[in-house]
Amino acid sequence: MIVVGGVTRLTDSGLSIVEWQPIVGTMPPITQQDWDVLLEKYRATPQYQQVNKGMSVDEFKSIFWWEYFHRVLGRLIGLVFFVPFVYFLVKKQIDRPLGIKLAGIFVLGGLQGFMGWYMVMSGLVNDPHVSQYRLTAHLGLAFVIFAAMFWVALGLLSPHREYSPANDKLQGLRRFSFSLSSLIFIMVLSGGFVAGIRAGLAYNTFPLMNGHVIPPDLFILEPWYRNFFDNITTVQFDHRLIAWILAFSVPIFWLKSRTVELQGTTRLACNLFLLMLAVQISLGIATLLHAVPIPLGASHQGGAVLLFAASLWVSHRLSLVTSTQSHGSTWLKNVIWGCIAVSMLFGLIYGVTTTGANPIGVPVIVGIGALLYFIPGFVATSRKHPNQTAIVILNIVAGWTFLGWVVALVWASLRIKPEDSQTAA
Ligand code: HEM
Repeated sequence: MIVVGGVTRLTDSGLSIVEWQPIVGTMPPITQQDWDVLLEKYRATPQYQQVNKGMSVDEFKSIFWWEYFHRVLGRLIGLVFFVPFVYFLVKKQIDRPLGIKLAGIFVLGGLQGFMGWYMVMSGLVNDPHVSQYRLTAHLGLAFVIFAAMFWVALGLLSPHREYSPANDKLQGLRRFSFSLSSLIFIMVLSGGFVAGIRAGLAYNTFPLMNGHVIPPDLFILEPWYRNFFDNITTVQFDHRLIAWILAFSVPIFWLKSRTVELQGTTRLACNLFLLMLAVQISLGIATLLHAVPIPLGASHQGGAVLLFAASLWVSHRLSLVTSTQSHGSTWLKNVIWGCIAVSMLFGLIYGVTTTGANPIGVPVIVGIGALLYFIPGFVATSRKHPNQTAIVILNIVAGWTFLGWVVALVWASLRIKPEDSQTAA
């Protein structure tokens, strides 16, 4: 799905369908009249008028099918997810924590459909390009959904803890691997901006950027922070810089992993992670040097998924080795952190897409607000409260009424009987 999305963007097909009809839009055009109607609608768009004027029906078909395939695949994934989910739920083969996680993933999938349309909308007015912010949000959410599904799947495939001799280095290694997964996610967002403003079509040399280690026009836009999102030079420089950081830190991680006693599967995951980094960096450089041909651009996007997957696999294996916390409180805390991250992402989108709003200030304020909002949830999970799931749900659903927030906080702070706390752990 992510690779098809990449090809849709690389072939400039994304703006060929100008309506969002989740149910009716699944039917493909069949008759000549269907095609005429679709092309007529496309003719009204700025992309047709400024870029593709005079496009024939046959040419239109070539861009239409990619966008159509991308949308139908999205709906198919939703269906293939939803029907077995309901079936296993009815058969009571899914326990409550897993059910909540899967329901959350399904909601994120729906949100992604909407996010895709929100992105397309930005390319249907005046400028025939989609906003790089919305493109990055759409790409980022795709990786969040992938990470959530992959993590749940890993948990189901290897549910047992891996016990290893007590080793101080394990905890550090685990933190290191989580940091690398986060950095790869940031790298993906950075790649979204590179693709979004077509920064891959400039500075097609490596390792220098047209003869410079640090190009001179990094901060030509005002205010300064716009350069990170709107300046082709800065956006590409950042992508290279993070690639260099990864190029050094992943091998250091791998070397460190060699000094710890690990099981075969965990060791295999570490080796694949290193290998995938080399593949992805090579693909990135090749994509740049050839000024983004479609097969390389698409492979680089697919490579990002595989690299992210490899890093998550390593993180998951290491969390099995070292985790001493209860399963319940860990995943609940992840839910809370996920909510905070999503609120900040929306704050960022609001900040950068709304004139007059501060793109740094809005997400920071939203983040602080979200941290305060989730105090009851944090108290409940930290104390391993026997009703922590219910408290977190109350916090999420009714916290905004303030009364709900107070009730959740009081509930989370109530005294826990020792035997209850043991059951929760
Ligand atoms: C180290 C890990 C890397 C990751 C995880 C990564 C990830 C990404 C992602 C997700 C994108 C957006 C989607 C796409 O591929 O088009 C992207 C775009 C891009 N990346 Fe990377 N990248 C990495 C390294 C590199 C390196 C080392 C270079 C070259 C120096 C590079 C050059 C590019 C270019 C030119 C694009 C724009 C492609 C386009 O317009 O479609 N990347 N990257």
